[in-house]
Amino acid sequence: MSVVKFYKEDQQVPLEMHKVRVVQKLFLPTVEERVKCLKEAGNNTFLLQNKDVFMDMLTDSGVNAMSDNQVAASMQADDSYAGSETCNRLMKALETVFGTKYFLPAHQGRACENILAETFVKQGDVIPMNFHFTTTKAHITRMGGRVEELVTKEGLDPHYIHPFKGNFDIPRLKKLIEEVGADHIPFVRIEAGTNLIGGQPLSMENMLEVAQICRENGILSVLDASLLQDNLYFIKTREEAAKDMTIAEIMRKIADAMDLIYFSSRKLGFSRGGAIVSNNNDLIMRMKEYIPLYEGFLTYGGMEVRSMEAMAVGLLETLDEEIINQGPLFIEYLVKELDEYGVPMVKPAGGLGAHINASEFLPHIPHEQYPAGALATALYIAGGIRGMERGSISEQRNPDGSEHYAELELLRLACPRRVFTLSQIKYCADRVKWLYDNRELIGGLKWEEEPKVLRFFFGRLQPLSDWQDRLAAKFREDFGDSL
Ligand code: F0G
Repeated sequence: MSVVKFYKEDQQVPLEMHKVRVVQKLFLPTVEERVKCLKEAGNNTFLLQNKDVFMDMLTDSGVNAMSDNQVAASMQADDSYAGSETCNRLMKALETVFGTKYFLPAHQGRACENILAETFVKQGDVIPMNFHFTTTKAHITRMGGRVEELVTKEGLDPHYIHPFKGNFDIPRLKKLIEEVGADHIPFVRIEAGTNLIGGQPLSMENMLEVAQICRENGILSVLDASLLQDNLYFIKTREEAAKDMTIAEIMRKIADAMDLIYFSSRKLGFSRGGAIVSNNNDLIMRMKEYIPLYEGFLTYGGMEVRSMEAMAVGLLETLDEEIINQGPLFIEYLVKELDEYGVPMVKPAGGLGAHINASEFLPHIPHEQYPAGALATALYIAGGIRGMERGSISEQRNPDGSEHYAELELLRLACPRRVFTLSQIKYCADRVKWLYDNRELIGGLKWEEEPKVLRFFFGRLQPLSDWQDRLAAKFREDFGDSL
């Protein structure tokens, strides 16, 4: 493992292992303008215009910085409908990384989920997983299936310190299989770097054990590798059994155990697009017909060829420790800064981003007033920073129309890889600290317009009082003429 230490023991900070050669100018609107932008965006950070955002921490999906080699590779794209050399190069990279021979292209991760659900999920089926992801669950329930979440109970406790809080509760998995019967479980989905509980990883041991249980019961094991990059780093640094393995070896050991692997390469591979890979040609053949139907021809599946070239290089770069450590190290720094100040964070720091525990940050705001959504709007007012609500707004209502409150009310501050410098991360920490000191000014939200499906993407909300104006006035008072 490559580590760069600073001379003074107490002054360790993460170090960028790259230099920046293409930049994008940022703009920070005034606090008064930020309140206005928020109103126009229906208090939903998804609806903010990027020109009005100083630090875009909404997601790390499709917004990671590409390497010089990725950009260079994209120039050699072979733009043909069929028989493209780009497709051959991508297949070769997939085989090198995962050891898989067969590949189906798709335009992004949820498209893979759509195809998996269409092919394997029937009415009444149960799909166990460590934790759901929004789009995964939507596709499974659309086909009449039910998601069962089996993450260990510690995974849902933001205070519990454990290196692998995304682990499956193995006894519960065995019990569920017994109760439901393997015939009603088409596959078990293993989500690396469990997104909605704070990017918490699974251990290699746990993944292999789940795959083994699947094999013993004739159930397919499906790995969602979208967030595998950070998870690989955590396995390497936190798991004794992997200490002497290379990232490539860890990757292969996990991949070899799975029947199917799919991913969003907006995350894994720092590119765009998605893929399903396997060594089982029968499984691939069952899904194949949906690719030309929903995505595009089998050589591109809705992806742009330049992205496919970038993906091939990006996947190979994922095997480089000095590349994949950048996300986790910067996230760890941000979590540590905030935790030391007393801000309630999901700990230990995971992948994807830093996660603030909004229920604890805002104990005076009940579930039904959406504390995580309220905190997201407050942080935009405080610093032009766009985070993502990962709480009850991101859930869907129960079939009877009642609210389904999230287990955790989180505000996620994603750290797109290699996009922000350390001073920008420090700025983010500074604005969160100010907000924490002024947290009693923050109020709740209510729906103004609530879509039925995936409501968090385009729903509109309103503040329950004039609290946002009061927060902006306090900012002006404390920061004077600062932006
Ligand atoms: N699986 C996981 C674990 C994800 O995090 C995502 C996307 C998907 C599947 C779907 O992939 O976006 O390419 O269709 N996560 C993004 C995020 C949207 O911001 O967390 P996609």
